[in-house]
Amino acid sequence: MDLDLTGRHALVCGASEGIGRAAAHELAALGARITVLARREAALRDVVRALPASAGQQHDVCVADLADATSLRGTLQALVARQPVDILINNTGGPPGGSAHEAAAEAYLEAFTRHLVAGQTLVQAVLPHMRTQRWGRIVNVVSTSVREPIPGLGVSNTVRGAVAGWAKTLSRELGPDGITVNNVLPGFTETARIDQIVRERAARESRDEAAVRADMAASVPARRFARPEETGGVIAFLCSPAAAYVTGVSLPVDGGRMASI
Ligand SMILES: NC(=O)c1ccc[n+]([C@@H]2O[C@H](COP(=O)([O-])OP(=O)(O)OC[C@H]3O[C@@H](n4cnc5c(N)ncnc54)[C@H](OP(=O)(O)O)[C@@H]3O)[C@@H](O)[C@H]2O)c1
Repeated sequence: MDLDLTGRHALVCGASEGIGRAAAHELAALGARITVLARREAALRDVVRALPASAGQQHDVCVADLADATSLRGTLQALVARQPVDILINNTGGPPGGSAHEAAAEAYLEAFTRHLVAGQTLVQAVLPHMRTQRWGRIVNVVSTSVREPIPGLGVSNTVRGAVAGWAKTLSRELGPDGITVNNVLPGFTETARIDQIVRERAARESRDEAAVRADMAASVPARRFARPEETGGVIAFLCSPAAAYVTGVSLPVDGGRMASI
């Protein structure tokens, strides 16, 4: 199986920690040169220092706020002018919790800006090169709520559906150019995001965090949360030459938690 990404440049967003950082590691291990993007420069520099690197694999950082579409556009123009991007991992932090009907309109706007508008800005920045070389990989890190909305994550459930519709449309538009577009749907994964979800659920239900965590793990057939590198490995596979005929899919990495087929 051809997993070799030597010579490819991957832009991995939301990579200062969590699933993004793990994806950066897995892609670097397959030979790609990585640029990690997030807001915290010091954390990004630590990530880059820890990435696997053989001769010729020079990793880099890109400090950017995905919530600021205007400055993001300028930052990306400079980035692709320096080194065109072959692989885009579109990822950011999840929206705050709460019910859909109680969320402020601004919360929806913020989530759509960071998850969908930023994704569109990123895709438009990397597309000219991908199209010219007739090869590209776009992977969006979304959520199982694309298929099964999660109670207490109203804004998140809403924006994930929009991202999935956008991605499916892109996959059909860009397939003739040799560009694949796929979504990875993480289940419960050991990152800061799951700590936030457990904390909010425990507060909402006036329960102990450990009990909430145990109940969540018990709802997964694998009986545990995912390690970020398990999700990162699936993302890296979708970017590999071996996955060239996989496009337009939403692939759960959830230990079998979703009941739907
Ligand atoms: N973990 C789970 O159990 C789980 C389950 C389902 C879905 N997901 C989804 O998967 C995605 C990744 O999750 P995760 O667990 O890896 O999250 P995480 O550990 O909270 O990491 C989020 C990353 O996004 C970056 N980020 C946040 N806001 C940003 C902004 N405005 N501009 C640029 N970068 C930003 C953060 O870096 P900076 O703070 O340095 O900017 C960080 O690197 C999220 O959408 C999450 O909701 C996660």
